[in-house]
Amino acid sequence: MEVTNVTEYQAIAKEKLPKMIYDYYASGAEDQWTLEENRNAFSRILFRPRILIDVSKIDMTTTILGFKLSMPIMIAPTAMQKMAHPEGEYATARAASAAGTIMTLSSWATSSVEEVASTGPGIRFFQLYVYKDRNVVAQLVRRAERAGFKAIALTVDTPRLGRREADIKNRFTLPPFLTLKNFEGLDLGKMDEANDSGLASYVAGQIDRTLSWKDVKWLQTITTMPILVKGVITAEDTRLAIQAGAAGIIVSNHGARQLDYVPATIIALEEVVKAAQGRVPVFLDGGVRRGTDVFKALALGASGIFIGRPVVFSLAAEGEAGVRNVLQMLREEFELTMALSGCTSLKEITRNHIVTEWDAPRSRPAPRL
Ligand code: FNR
Repeated sequence: MEVTNVTEYQAIAKEKLPKMIYDYYASGAEDQWTLEENRNAFSRILFRPRILIDVSKIDMTTTILGFKLSMPIMIAPTAMQKMAHPEGEYATARAASAAGTIMTLSSWATSSVEEVASTGPGIRFFQLYVYKDRNVVAQLVRRAERAGFKAIALTVDTPRLGRREADIKNRFTLPPFLTLKNFEGLDLGKMDEANDSGLASYVAGQIDRTLSWKDVKWLQTITTMPILVKGVITAEDTRLAIQAGAAGIIVSNHGARQLDYVPATIIALEEVVKAAQGRVPVFLDGGVRRGTDVFKALALGASGIFIGRPVVFSLAAEGEAGVRNVLQMLREEFELTMALSGCTSLKEITRNHIVTEWDAPRSRPAPRL
């Protein structure tokens, strides 16, 4: 059957993938309240479209950290993509590049920074998890820089892994034929089986729980790449991130996989945008599945969005062609949303094009009785 929207890939992936792998990709933390809320919150934001505007030409191009993109839709880091498809991160890199957008490579990719760079030209960011052993971090950052990666997305919401109960039940671990390629030479590329989630044990053993704002400054001493802080959802942390030298902020709750009962990212976005005061760009990920979602995020002040699960699900279904199709469908839906809202370029998308539940009720004329 023809796939006509991004969400449909999830059911196909569920059929194709072993249960342990599908559950790892799909799950959220604990009650998965935030997982549902990441989607539901978008549906409570409605449009105030403008009419009779010439929308015969729509320009979706944008510039992110100085790089020209065809659209404000980018790829979030998702770990271990070769579990979805043999070409894994290569397929994602090629699809992103063909669509004229950015791929963020996970620290825990099953392909190395060098391998992904060798797939061809493309603008790529590198997502960083900070290991206890800072030599490992410094080496990896240097390798990413040398391989031509353009920015670091520093993930700050994972001092410990969130409790994903399906992974515990399934005793999730990386299949034996794969490694966390970036760490292969450092003897940190394998994940032992554990009595619960193998990934949770790996994180407990390797990831630095002491990570703090001073490390954001330290990171700037070892790289010239701009640093995006990924995992901010409050105004307080937005201000601290900017003080610490962040070049941008990614409003993210890690796809609802870390702390459950945090708000949907689309709800947290405006608070962060206001605190940032235009000093750095603010991005969003979490639950974006439609072009209308992209528009809503931009109307609330985001400079762009990232997608996570749609990439792994479409990879599982159709490899590179699947990821290309996801990017194309989102692109077309976003273009249509712009046209039907009366916007011909991204700068024409305003806060007045949407209404949220936290907006003051619009005064209505009292009915004449
Ligand atoms: C993730 N995410 C993630 N984030 C990160 O910083 N490093 C990583 O390695 C991963 N790995 C990962 C694997 C899988 C299977 C998922 C679903 C997510 C979080 C990711 O970057 C992003 O924040 C969310 O996926 C965005 O939400 P959606 O689009 O999946 O709803």
